[in-house]
Amino acid sequence: MAAPLAPPELSTCHPATKGSPPDMTHCCPPYSQAHIVDYDFPRTPLRVRRPAHEVKDDPEYIEKYTEAVRKMKELPSDDPWNFYQQALVHCAYCNGAYFQKGYPDVTLQVHTSWHFLAWHRYYLHFFERILGKLIKDDTFALPYWNFDAKEGMTIPEIFTSDPNSPLYNDNRNKDHYYPAIVDYRYAYKCGTPPCGSNQTGDELVQANMSYMRSTFKNSLQLPELFMGDPLRAGEPDSSKGTGGLESIHNAIHQFVGPADTEYHTDMGNFATAARDCMFYRLHANVDRLWHLYTNFRGNRVEFDEPDWLESSYIFYELQSDFTGRGTIL
Ligand code: C2O
Repeated sequence: MAAPLAPPELSTCHPATKGSPPDMTHCCPPYSQAHIVDYDFPRTPLRVRRPAHEVKDDPEYIEKYTEAVRKMKELPSDDPWNFYQQALVHCAYCNGAYFQKGYPDVTLQVHTSWHFLAWHRYYLHFFERILGKLIKDDTFALPYWNFDAKEGMTIPEIFTSDPNSPLYNDNRNKDHYYPAIVDYRYAYKCGTPPCGSNQTGDELVQANMSYMRSTFKNSLQLPELFMGDPLRAGEPDSSKGTGGLESIHNAIHQFVGPADTEYHTDMGNFATAARDCMFYRLHANVDRLWHLYTNFRGNRVEFDEPDWLESSYIFYELQSDFTGRGTIL
């Protein structure tokens, strides 16, 4: 009965009503007729991501990065590489806009299971390539939010200091701006007002670090604990399948998103999270933490079975020359 998750049928995309704010249910990318091909990793130079708290002292990088995001936001609104179109890809895959292929009652969800890490890594890969292409730099790399190191445990100021910057987003919890320290246990639902570990300062830094350490340590022999439970074709998602890394990441989404609005747009809601540049910083570090986890395991494949290795998704890739239009992969 088992089978790898298949990519969705784009033409059957429907309103995304699972958890979306009522005005954000139109998440379908408008490209149902596209040519879909298998993706081969390109032989481009290695892109090296750096921590956001370090790149802030590199004006040349900040300039490039800001320019790339500006260009992406300025693309025609129906262009698949447009910043907000890219955000819709996340919404479509997370808020129920697709059914799983061959299972018309089962919605596709890339969170709360082993798909979480793989899907988001691909999503960033393509997003990063679009940014690099827009500024004609194939070495361009996203910065990562190094929230597992003491120096990185605050919201990076490059995203908060200038309201006119393309990196800025107003829908955030401004009480959590620098110097507030992220809290790996923060959650909207744990009480009113939302709560967390109730620790501050160095105590909170230490609590985060030991939480991260035990998340790694307890799961080294059992990748499900770190990465999430298997989800095969036809199976509905269940929040019980969430892995340890995804849980920490969930707390950080909520920490950045506004606590006092019903749908917590942008970062606190799947449907809108990718409209905030902070999303990609957060996920660049999730990618990095997964990479560290794999290293700690001696680079063994985490799930040596076809249902993991052959699951597939659809993303929007750039053509080799920048012509203003994307190809779907
Ligand atoms: Cu798709 Cu950080 O979530």
